[in-house]
Amino acid sequence: MKVKIGDFEIRNATEDDVGEILDIDKTVFSTIWSPSFLRQQLRSEKCFHRVLNKNGMIIGHSGLMRLHDEGHITTMAIKPENQNSGLGSLLLADLCSLAIDSDLKGITLEVRVGNLKAQGLYRKFGFIPAGVRSNYYSDTGEDALIMWLTDLPNKKVIKIVESTFRNSLVQKV
Ligand SMILES: CC(C)(COP(=O)(O)OP(=O)(O)OC[C@H]1O[C@@H](n2cnc3c(N)ncnc32)[C@H](O)[C@@H]1OP(=O)(O)O)[C@@H](O)C(=O)NCCC(=O)NCCS
Repeated sequence: MKVKIGDFEIRNATEDDVGEILDIDKTVFSTIWSPSFLRQQLRSEKCFHRVLNKNGMIIGHSGLMRLHDEGHITTMAIKPENQNSGLGSLLLADLCSLAIDSDLKGITLEVRVGNLKAQGLYRKFGFIPAGVRSNYYSDTGEDALIMWLTDLPNKKVIKIVESTFRNSLVQKV
């Protein structure tokens, strides 16, 4: 499914998008996936991988892996020059909407304990901290905060997804 939002569009990623996705990751992550790992994610029936386009250019992407009735957010990134204008919220609203449509009961993720901005984004959608994985990130040894959004479809997430889409004049096509 495609989501159109004015000049923006969110759609499923394809293997043709690998180069642009990894170019974004190089600018925001200290370690990035290999092209072959990303291709494997794109081919997997268990994964949703979405790209956000503006005028045909990819400016963000997100991934969600389905495991039984749970989802795991595998990645989420917006190009630095496009951050802080609600686009991360749009990508997360899109993933939550796909999870609800797929009857998932919860979504989890790991985020660096020092990444307060991403944690703020997830908290906005009702994710709550549920534990810490020590030394999770091999590049720096930083701990990961585990966050969970449970009891889907809960009223809080439906409200925030609807208001995020409504404020952005979304059209699902
Ligand atoms: C995290 C990321 C995807 C957010 O994208 P974005 O487009 O900047 O996010 P938004 O503009 O939609 O802001 C989302 C929310 O984050 C929260 N937020 C923003 N800046 C924050 C800060 N400095 N501290 C805490 N929370 C903050 C706010 O709740 C904000 O929502 P609001 O403006 O409605 O209050 C983006 O910063 C990014 O790509 N970062 C680098 C990669 C990364 O860290 N990915 C996450 C891996 S788990």
